Amino acid sequence: MADNGGLTGNIENGKARFLSDPFEMDDVQSPVQRLIGIHDEIRHGLGLADVTRIAIALYDAKTHRLKTFIRSGLKESPLDHYTASLDDIPSLVEVARQKRPRVVDDLEVFKASPTVHSTRLIKHGFRSSLTVPIFDHGNLFGFLFFNSDTPGCFSQVVVHQLLPYARTIALFAINEMQSIRMLHAAVKTAREITHLRDDETGGHLDRMARYSRLTAMNLAPKYGFDDEFIEYIYQFAPLHDIGKVGIPDAILLKPGRLTESEFAIMREHVDKGITIIDAMRRDFNLDNLSHLQILRNIVAFHHEAIDGSGYPKGLKGDDIPIEARIISVADVFDALTSARPYKHAWTSEAAFEFLHGAKGSRFDHDCINALEAGMNEIKDIQAQFAESPLG
Ligand code: C2E
Ligand code: SIN
Ligand code: SIN
Ligand code: SIN
Ligand code: FE
Ligand code: FE
Repeated sequence: MADNGGLTGNIENGKARFLSDPFEMDDVQSPVQRLIGIHDEIRHGLGLADVTRIAIALYDAKTHRLKTFIRSGLKESPLDHYTASLDDIPSLVEVARQKRPRVVDDLEVFKASPTVHSTRLIKHGFRSSLTVPIFDHGNLFGFLFFNSDTPGCFSQVVVHQLLPYARTIALFAINEMQSIRMLHAAVKTAREITHLRDDETGGHLDRMARYSRLTAMNLAPKYGFDDEFIEYIYQFAPLHDIGKVGIPDAILLKPGRLTESEFAIMREHVDKGITIIDAMRRDFNLDNLSHLQILRNIVAFHHEAIDGSGYPKGLKGDDIPIEARIISVADVFDALTSARPYKHAWTSEAAFEFLHGAKGSRFDHDCINALEAGMNEIKDIQAQFAESPLG
C-alpha cells in the first residue's frame, strides 16, 4: 500500500517488519462475506479445519420464530430457508434459558427426540456442535452454530479458541441489525411528524413485508436466493413507500379517488423516496450497512411494470430488479385486500385474479405464483396482522 496512514515502519534497519496483508476496517462487507472470512481464519489460521459449518439464526420476538440468516459452510446447506417456532426446539430454548454456550459431542443424541433442525444436520453428515446464544441488551437475538463432521470436535480447548470469534460474529450481526433498526426508526419518526395515515403505519407494512418474504422463499430454489438476501427483502420491504412522507396530506389522505393531476404528484413519492434514502445514507453514516442497494432498488422500482407501463422509468421485464418485482406484487396484493379510504377490501381470490389478470403483463408471474403458493401462510398473516379499529 502506498499510503500507510502516516505511520512509518523501520523496514530498512530491521527493527520492524510489515505484514503482507493490509488491515482495513472500512471495507463494506456483507454479513455473509465477513462470516466466510472469519470461518476461513478459523480453519486455516487457527488450524481448526474440522469446523465445517458456521451459521446464525435470528430470533423474531414478534412471532417467536427462528429463521436462518447467514452461514458459511463447505457443503450444501442443510437448513437453508428454514424457519421454526422456537417453542418446537426445546434444546435451543434451554440454551437460551441458560444463556451459556452448549456443546453436543455427538448430534446422534438428538435421534431420541428429533427436531427438523437436528435431523437435517445429521443427514448432512454433521456430528458435533457448539451452539452459542446471542443476546442484545438482554433480549434474545439469535443463535450462533458451529458444526463439525467429526464427533467430539468441540473440546474445552477448541471452545476457548472459538469463543472470541463467536463474539466478533455476534457483534457484527447485531451491528448490522442495529443499522437497519435505525433506518426504521428514522422512517417512523418522519412519518409521525407528517401524520401519515394509519393504514400505512399499521398492518399494511407488517403484512406486505411478510408477503414479500414468503414470495422470496418460494422463489429461492429457482432464483438461487440465499437466506441473507431473503432477510434483507423482508427488512427493507416496509420502507418501499418512504417517499410518501413528502406528499401533501390533502392528496395522501384524500378520502376519494385522485384526479390525474393529484396522481401525478403522488407518483413523485418514488423520486422523493430515493432522495430520502440517499440523505439518510449520508447523514446517518450508513455506508457500512451492506445491501443498501437492495433498499434503493425497492424504493426506486416498486411501481415499474413488466410490460413497461409503470413509473417513473418505464423499465421492462428483467431490467426491473427482482427485489422490486417481488415487493410490487406483495404491495399491490395487500393494497387490494385491504380497505382504504377510497376502496373496499377485496378477497384474496379476487386480488390474485386481478394480478394474473387480463392486462396480466404488468406483474411478474413467477412472483404472483410464488405468493399464491403460500395461501395457507397468507391466511395466517392476515389473521395475525389484521387491521385493528385503533389502527
Ligand atoms: P398504495 O395504496 O400502497 O397502493 C399501491 C398500489 O396498489 C397502487 O399503486 C396500485 O397499483 C395498487 N392499488 C391500490 N389500490 C387499488 C385499487 O383500488 N385498484 C387497483 N386496480 N389497484 C390498486 P399506484 O396506483 O401507483 O398508487 C400509489 C399510491 O397512490 C397508493 O399506494 C396510494 O397511496 C395512492 N393512491 C392511488 N390511488 C389513489 C386514490 O384513488 N385515492 C387516494 N386517496 N390515494 C390513491
Ligand atoms: C442456520 O442453520 O441456522 C443458518 C443457515 C443455514 O445453514 O442454512
Ligand atoms: C438442536 O439443538 O436442536 C440441534 C443441535 C444444534 O443446532 O447444535
Ligand atoms: C442472492 O442472494 O443470491 C442474490 C442477491 C444478493 O446477494 O444481493
Ligand atoms: Fe409506492
Ligand atoms: Fe404500499
